[in-house]
Amino acid sequence: MEYTFSLEFIYLIASITYILGLKMLGHPETARRGNLIAAAGMILAIFGTLFLYQGDEVPNKIYILIAIAIVIGTIAGWLIAKKVDMTKMPELVSLFNGMGGASAALIGLIEFHHYVGNQLYIATIIAGMVIGSVSFAGSMIALGKLNGTFKKPIRLPKYNLLNNLVFLAIIAFGIFMVVSGTSSQLFLYLLFFSALAYGILLVIPIGGADMPVVISLLNSFTGLAAAFAGFLYGNKVMLTGGILVGSAGTILTFAMCNAMNRSLSNVIFGAFGSSSGDEAEGHEITGSIKKATVSDVAILMNYSQKVIIVPGYGLAVAQAQHVIHELEQLLDSKGIDVKYAIHPVAGRMPGHMNVLLAETNVEYDKLAEMDDVNPEFANTDVVFVVGANDVVNPAAHNDPSSPIYGMPILEVENAKHIIVNKRSMKPGYAGIENELFYNQKTSMLFGDAKDILTKLVSELKSM
Ligand code: TAP
Repeated sequence: MEYTFSLEFIYLIASITYILGLKMLGHPETARRGNLIAAAGMILAIFGTLFLYQGDEVPNKIYILIAIAIVIGTIAGWLIAKKVDMTKMPELVSLFNGMGGASAALIGLIEFHHYVGNQLYIATIIAGMVIGSVSFAGSMIALGKLNGTFKKPIRLPKYNLLNNLVFLAIIAFGIFMVVSGTSSQLFLYLLFFSALAYGILLVIPIGGADMPVVISLLNSFTGLAAAFAGFLYGNKVMLTGGILVGSAGTILTFAMCNAMNRSLSNVIFGAFGSSSGDEAEGHEITGSIKKATVSDVAILMNYSQKVIIVPGYGLAVAQAQHVIHELEQLLDSKGIDVKYAIHPVAGRMPGHMNVLLAETNVEYDKLAEMDDVNPEFANTDVVFVVGANDVVNPAAHNDPSSPIYGMPILEVENAKHIIVNKRSMKPGYAGIENELFYNQKTSMLFGDAKDILTKLVSELKSM
């Protein structure tokens, strides 16, 4: 492989853009720019490679094929990303991640016979191909679970044992291929299909609701597979990009697990999050609920000094981000202190609420993070929970038998009045009952969030 000095320099710049972009993705205010900067670095690296690489002679027809692939990929990616609903974002990430895994696997399949006899490179190729294949197959199953194609987790008898055996067999066979120096295409394809099968076996038993964590984990696999490919080609920008994706995916996976107070092994081997979502699991709560009307809530808010809005997954489902912003501005104009309390795993993907509210240009200083806002609930007149459920469930503190016991929550029960907007008494993601709804201070405001918020805004305007 021959990389000219100018190409190496371009790779250095591209690598810096990835690091900068990743850093900027950490804050909603800079995230969009960070994404564009990293994308510009990627374009630079691709075109730099196409025009400045001076390795073996590349036939013109290959350039034509690459150009066609770039055009198809760009148009397809652009259209899909433009059209996708916010609530379907995890599916899109899963699809794109699967494509990354597939690319890494294909590199392995194509390059294997070029390196027979070189144990280090064959080991790299096999590792990249296996990890990429697992990531591709797993991501496709995750996509199917998220879009409802696979409704229930499929658990084969002794599935954990079976999966571990397949995993060990793949490792053993991979080592055999490296050590024996075999050039057998049959063995290569056997390993490839086994890795695909393992990707499927790994993800099918996991509950659909745990898919965001799984996707993040598979994302880190894809990064690792790309890093192996970067090492194989001696391509530093591919290596850097792969390592960054791999480590960012790993950090995110653990951050999600921590925020849900679950271990990664519990996500992979446990049966949590597999409920259909209609019936609550866990211990039954007896008691009665209090219902409120839109006018009750409007009056209560109108005479409040401080209101905290707690957005959750239901806000995204209802696409009510614009009208909730209108409500916030209206309360603000009435001199009421208003802000949003953001739980780190509210919604279905990291930063879901931040992204949703950023769409409507909510000012960032109106968004308060869980640890900062929790002490404020005690002096809050009204907490308005909109389409959130698990992230405000006191069982996380009070009920050691609850699957979410230990998960940090927004302590809304400390406020003077709690208004909860949702459509029914159905549970949220974790499939468990919420005793907050039965709290003396809580009033339920049933209905679709967009519909309810629109009525609330017009009621408040008339006051
Ligand atoms: P959930 O606990 O899932 O509750 C959302 C609630 O929104 C539901 O109870 C639902 O009740 C209501 N809802 C749905 N559509 C609605 C609509 N159109 N209008 C009004 N309400 C609507 O959400 P959450 O509190 O945001 O918690 C997130 C959960 O997802 C946590 O358990 C978290 O661990 C998990 N999770 C999050 C992530 C990330 S990274 N964010 C990743 C994996 C898992 P009705 O059906 O009765 O309306």
